[in-house]
Amino acid sequence: MNVAIIGGTGVESWPGAEVIEQREIETPYGEPSAPLVRARVADTEVWFLSRHGLGHEIAPHRINYRANIDAIAGLGCDTVVALNAVGIIGDATPVGGLALPDQLIDYTWGRECTYLDGDRESLDHLDFTEPFDGALRRALIAAGAAAGIAVASTGVYGVTQGPRLETRAEVDRLERDGVTLIGMTAMPEAALACERGLDYACVALVVNAAAGRGDAPIHDDLVGSMASARYQATELVRSFLRASR
Ligand code: HPA
Repeated sequence: MNVAIIGGTGVESWPGAEVIEQREIETPYGEPSAPLVRARVADTEVWFLSRHGLGHEIAPHRINYRANIDAIAGLGCDTVVALNAVGIIGDATPVGGLALPDQLIDYTWGRECTYLDGDRESLDHLDFTEPFDGALRRALIAAGAAAGIAVASTGVYGVTQGPRLETRAEVDRLERDGVTLIGMTAMPEAALACERGLDYACVALVVNAAAGRGDAPIHDDLVGSMASARYQATELVRSFLRASR
């Protein structure tokens, strides 16, 4: 298994990683968000990419998802563990905890969302019934259990355009749609990974209650919860890598 980790908001670098090399990669789709970092984590070599750039400067709708996934596939990775900060509707996970979504709904627009558009590669219609790889999700859930980290094992990730957060009415609509986790970055990333034949799963860092659903202002939630969610996510991934050796 050759693992790539895509770090999202709050995980722009891997804490304590032993860096082996950094590669600046040019793809037919342009440049990835940041240099790809080869690092040793839990005695395993992985590639790490910071989705929003090294200084968290790339907004969700401006990320070059195609370049990111193409670079990862080109490095020989077959597995992607994506870390994504999300807001939560409901109480399946406490703020500061983790969830592993098993489904998603894409509300984004205007993003370059496929390789298979008849341009560089011939037109095809990806079977995306299951957007996240089942075996990888099960391995991550087991890794959480082994490390004593509570993880909600299902969830519907609604991918919004951002960069602004939602209105209260938008959250109500998302809830009616069945969304439980709201974030801005799982699409088109998950579909592109699928098109490239990579096993892809999302570890969602629950960093706030969705707009209108919490007691505290959203940004207070974010500041208070990120350290806990980041710690648990990185411990879960370390446990996963140890079990996959
Ligand atoms: N909505 C959308 N994206 C997010 C949120 C949210 O509440 N929290 C973190 N990313």
